[in-house]
This record gives sequence, structure tokens and C-alpha cells, in this order.
Amino acid sequence: MSPIEKVGVLGCGLMGSGIAQASATAGFTTVARDVGEPLLDKGRAGILKSLGRLVERGKLEGRARDAASERLSFTTDLAALDDCDIIIEAVTEDLDLKNGLWKELDQICPQRTIFASNTSSLTIAAMAASTDRPDRFVGLHFFNPVPLMPLIEVVRTVTTSQKTFDRAYAFARDLGKEPVAATDSPGFIVNLLLVPYLLDAARALERGVASTPDLDRAMQLGCGHPMGPLTLLDYIGLDTVVRISEIMFDAYREPRYAAPPLLQRMVVAGFHGRKNGRGFYDYSVDPPVPSDLGLGPSKA
Ligand code: 3HC
Repeated sequence: MSPIEKVGVLGCGLMGSGIAQASATAGFTTVARDVGEPLLDKGRAGILKSLGRLVERGKLEGRARDAASERLSFTTDLAALDDCDIIIEAVTEDLDLKNGLWKELDQICPQRTIFASNTSSLTIAAMAASTDRPDRFVGLHFFNPVPLMPLIEVVRTVTTSQKTFDRAYAFARDLGKEPVAATDSPGFIVNLLLVPYLLDAARALERGVASTPDLDRAMQLGCGHPMGPLTLLDYIGLDTVVRISEIMFDAYREPRYAAPPLLQRMVVAGFHGRKNGRGFYDYSVDPPVPSDLGLGPSKA
């Protein structure tokens, strides 16, 4: 069994750049691909900032940071991924978009290349079936912020071979992460449990149960969570959570996966959370303050 040496990452957003960083830091030659230079520049800047923070906090040596940077390259050319041993896809949660990329890569990449999707809610089987290598297809689901969160869900679908699953599981370990095995059902383990909780927090705010900071403080101080649910929603991205909830609702048809009207309105209004400065909190000031979401009674 040939070792994994070169890793390709599709998408250089928050998750993709985090995955590329983790891969390069763990010693793999890594090439990150996105559609335009501005996206690659943003991803590269985010990685350098994160590596810098880890060095500042004494969690990474300066030499290890430099070596990681040297192992990393960026491209807009899909063909540059042609000699990768594994490709991890972290693009928008759109099955047609993902399958378009997989179909192209299926023609370009050698037999040995494993295809892995970081999808948080789509079916791995639906991607594997679009290629001629359904046995060499797995899910590798990372968590935000990727450089800090130790977990990877390794997802086996009906067509994944035992050999591919074992290689992907070992690779997750080689990345310095803790793998858990999950079956191919929407949300896998974490989002199956986390998404209804986050949606319930937005529902509680909508119903006037408590204020934004009190809802967050309650779960931090009462349950020991590192972040309250509304802060976490902002952190993941409200548009991302609404998209995941749509996919999960579509799959399970259970009300607990339906995004409440408040969350939907916020996304329509351009409140995407921390990434664009507006969500349950307003990040244009430091420290952030709760956003006025028009939830109080209107004044006559
Ligand atoms: N890169 C490098 N270092 C980082 C970083 C990054 N991206 N983000 C934070 N840090 C460092 C900080 O410098 C700091 O270092 P220190 O402890 O040595 O001082 C440390 O991490 C803690 O950062 P902060 O003080 O800013 O904030 P916190 O103490 O709150 O920690 C956190 C940040 C690790 C993000 C913590 O709040 C946490 O664990 N939050 C929960 C995150 C979570 O639930 N993620 C899962 C989301 S679900 C998901 O991703 C699935 C998807 O499908 C939706």
C-alpha cells in the first residue's frame, strides 16, 4: 500500500484553508486549489495568521511554521492535483458543484488517489456514484477551527472499500487528529446532535426566552461549553448552518432540523456571522455587542 505523501485540498475558504494548514503542518506536501487568486490570497493570509498565532502561543516552533509554509502551494488549476494521493474537497455544500469537480478529477487522477469530501451533511454515496472509483471514496469531516479542533469523522458509505476506509482513518491520525468512524447518514455524528441544539438556541431567542448574551452565558457557565450557541452560530456562519439544516430537513423531514424564521431572515438580510461582521453579534466593535434584530415590540 503506497503511503500518502501529497494532499490536494479543493476550496480555500475557512474549512479548506484550515485543512490545508493541518496537512502541511503534519508534514504532507499540500496543494490548495480554488477558483480565483483573491480567494487563494485570502486563504493564504488566514493560514499565515493562524500559524503565527500558534507560534506566538508556543504551540508551534518557528521552524515548523516555516517548513509548513514551504510544503504548501496554491493553484487555480485543477490539473495541478493530478499526482495527489488523497484529495479532500471543502467547497460549498452544493452537490452539483462537488460532483462536477469529482468527475473532472476522476479523469485526471491516477487509480491510487483517494477522494474524500469534507461535506457536513450531503450524502457521500451521491458523490462516490458520480465517479468511477466509488470504492475509493470516503468522508473526512473536519471541525472549525480546523487547526485546533482534534476531531475528524471518517465516513464510510456503502461503496467504500475496507482498504480505503483504513487508509483514510490512518491518514486522519497522521494529521495529528482523533478519528471517529461514522456511517453515511446526513449530519454524521456531530451535526446530527449539534444542529438541532443551535437551531433551538435561535428559536429560544426568537421566543424571548432570554437575551443573546444570557443564552450564551447560560450554556457556557451551566454546561461548560467553550462558546455559547449563538456565538457558535456566528462562528460557523449563519448561511452555512441554514444550508446544513435545509439538507438535513430534506433528508429527515423532522421539524427540529428546520431553521427558524429568525435565522432565515438574518441570512436573507446578509447577517452571515463573524465572517462578514454581522450575526447575533455585531463584530464591527471590539468587543462585539449583541445585534439589534428587531425582536422587541415595535414602538408606536
Ligand atoms: N488558529 C490558531 N490559533 C487559534 C485559532 C486559529 N484559527 N483560533 C483560536 N486560536 C487560539 C488562540 O490564539 C488562543 O490561544 P491560547 O489558548 O494559547 O491563548 C486559543 O486558540 C483560544 O482562543 P481564544 O482565547 O480566542 O478563544 P477561546 O478560548 O474561546 O477558544 C475555540 C477558541 C477553540 C474556538 C473555542 O472557543 C472552542 O472550542 N469553541 C467551540 C468550537 C466548536 O464547537 N467547533 C465546532 C463547530 S461545528 C463544525 O465545525 C462542523 C461544521 O460542519 C459546521
